Amino acid sequence: MNIQTNTQTQGQKPKIFVARAIFPEALAKLEQSFEVHSNQEDEIFTPEQLQKALSGVAGALVTGSERIDSAALANAKDLKIVANISVGYNNFDVPAITAAGVMASNTPDVLTDTTADFGFALLMATARRITESEHWVRNGLWDKWSIVNNPLGMDLHHSTIGIIGMGRIGQGIAKRALGFGMNVIYHNRSRLSEADEQSCGASYVSKEELLRTADHVVLVLPYSAESHHTIGAKEIALMKPSATLVNIARGGIVDDLALAQALKEKRIFAAGLDVFEGEPKVNPELLKLSNVVLAPHIASATEKTRRAMVDLAIANLRAALDGKKPPSLINVEVFKP
Ligand code: DGY
Repeated sequence: MNIQTNTQTQGQKPKIFVARAIFPEALAKLEQSFEVHSNQEDEIFTPEQLQKALSGVAGALVTGSERIDSAALANAKDLKIVANISVGYNNFDVPAITAAGVMASNTPDVLTDTTADFGFALLMATARRITESEHWVRNGLWDKWSIVNNPLGMDLHHSTIGIIGMGRIGQGIAKRALGFGMNVIYHNRSRLSEADEQSCGASYVSKEELLRTADHVVLVLPYSAESHHTIGAKEIALMKPSATLVNIARGGIVDDLALAQALKEKRIFAAGLDVFEGEPKVNPELLKLSNVVLAPHIASATEKTRRAMVDLAIANLRAALDGKKPPSLINVEVFKP
């Protein structure tokens, strides 16, 4: 671990910690206002290193690779805010952060369309076997082309898409699906308003009905103890053998081993995964299969959106250190105007 510090300003400005590499211009701007301790080498910190790095700082910019819990906060007596550069915040133990009197924030909205675009791209790649097809080309198999001997896929147009988790990103995917003439069904903890259902052209169904009837199942729900293994062997058994499953939500929403077994036995057609249990590790059983498209958690990864996420996280951090309410504060009860 090598934490860099802008030493010429040390002592005069509030100290902050930047847990992973960010854009140099954003870092330079931060250095104008703060004594910045940053991990621009981008190594993932151990819990011990993280606990040490949070000691003595007033604010921290963190990502999903940093687990912020009572152990991480044990010596963080000066900390006012942990600003996640991510909309999902399952890396936060919110009750522990709140108990420590620390504000927690995330980056909603700025990534909705980019992430919905990616969910649709992954669905298309999965259903139309795009990565397998690329391997055909790269491995010189094109001369084996025939009407029947090709990676034959599944249609999206006029099929049924089932979206589990109908927040902003789920609704974005539904709207894209309408453009493909798809029938949209969804399941969510709470049903959308009639107006929102209409604008997405989506019908609410039970999880079981969705799994039985959807041609393509897309997961966009937040991770929590309740949503752990929302899709396991039992749920996969309800799906059509021709169905695809796409997970852009979080690792742990799907039982990856059960999925790998189902894909191996062709109990469903294919899967597209951007998130994994225990990522950045990937279950080795998944790596052996050709009917799964794998991506390294890149749903929000366009330059414009990643910059917007960093900017929003910084706006949250600045607000907290200026005594103002951060624009996307999660634990509002901690804020004392
Ligand atoms: C998010 O913001 O939650 C994304 O998964 C991070 O890329």
